[in-house]
Amino acid sequence: MRRVVCPGSFDPITNGHLDIIGRSARLYDEVTVAVLINVEKSSLFTVDERIDILQTVTKDFPNVKVRKFHGLLVDFCRQNDIPAIVKGIRVVSDFDYELQMAQLNYRLSGVETLFMPTNPEYSFLSSSRVKEIARYGGDVSGLVPDLVHKLLIERLRG
Ligand code: PNS
Repeated sequence: MRRVVCPGSFDPITNGHLDIIGRSARLYDEVTVAVLINVEKSSLFTVDERIDILQTVTKDFPNVKVRKFHGLLVDFCRQNDIPAIVKGIRVVSDFDYELQMAQLNYRLSGVETLFMPTNPEYSFLSSSRVKEIARYGGDVSGLVPDLVHKLLIERLRG
């Protein structure tokens, strides 16, 4: 069984994330989407809400499962027998940051990191920008799954 993890905050998931998850699901037998529990960072959606959303929007991928984790990602990988991490790279500055994390994660545990170029259609996209646009009434349809679009409107303008 070839396993890989797609980690992140997913607050909320964007179409860029979903694209990386779907492409990973075509390459691997099992993809675990791992949502970081980060008590230091305030979030728009709770971890459990994010998990519900992720489960709904990935339901067409039978080999994708969604879990939460805290602490080091490599410990989660070890506990779940996952040898590799997939990270989407949007722009060169992502690579600077991700390379350091990949090298540290490898040094800590031997867990590999594989970089997947983001679909150029989504290279400008981030959860933070999506929240900012939605908060001020901008249109984020096409940037996030329909469910997320609906929930953002409810939560931010409700
Ligand atoms: O979506 P994000 O917020 O960019 O995801 C970042 C994430 C969750 C992948 C990263 O912060 C992470 O792996 N955090 C867990 C703690 C950890 O393992 N840090 C790396 C030390 S080298």
